[in-house]
Amino acid sequence: MIRPNAGQGLFLTLEGVDGAGKSSHLDWLTDRLRSRGLRVVSTREPGGTPLGEDLRQLLLQRPMRLRTETLLMFAARAEHLAQVIEPALRRGDWVVCDRFTDASYAYQGGGRELGEAAIAALEDWVHPHLQPDRTWLFDVPLEVAQARRAGAREADRFEAENAAFFKRTRAAYLARAASSKGRILRVDATGTLDDVRAQLARDLDKLWEHHHV
Ligand code: TYD
Repeated sequence: MIRPNAGQGLFLTLEGVDGAGKSSHLDWLTDRLRSRGLRVVSTREPGGTPLGEDLRQLLLQRPMRLRTETLLMFAARAEHLAQVIEPALRRGDWVVCDRFTDASYAYQGGGRELGEAAIAALEDWVHPHLQPDRTWLFDVPLEVAQARRAGAREADRFEAENAAFFKRTRAAYLARAASSKGRILRVDATGTLDDVRAQLARDLDKLWEHHHV
């Protein structure tokens, strides 16, 4: 999705349930874009600003109501958009962001069963005109994600959720991918890092051609 009046930079996001392995690809993607001479801002949600990183700590550790959790995700996002993402895109930089609003649809909307309407209302309030140009949805069967999570350090409030939560979260992600085919690309993240990177590299080449950068 090309934004009217945008510079050359594209807004790229990475999504997937915990354990799908997306974070292992963030630096690789950033390096690949930089090696083409692009200016790239690499960032994450929740977080990406000093206030956002403080909110992240609360979100990952403190028990809270679903409504509070959802509002804090969007509060961090509002700050992130204003301080980091929008200025970068205005300068013509590329932005690679580890999670964005699709995560709110999947985790709060799906996993926690808030539904889409509340997320859509907040999205419309916080960023009515901005969508990622490309979203890679790192997808693996639930058992694979579960096994990968088990190897990680101490679980946060999301990682500690049960299988049914991740099943709903993944289903919400896949439903979004099905309804946003032009923007969200499902990446089969079951294979090796190289397998996954080959899929990303092919898609980056396509984006490239398409946007004449
Ligand atoms: P994550 O990128 O998975 O952090 P890490 O890889 O360091 O564990 O993100 C932290 C968690 O935040 C993740 O479990 C998903 C959750 N999250 C939401 O529930 N809603 C959101 O809108 C966002 C951005 C993240």
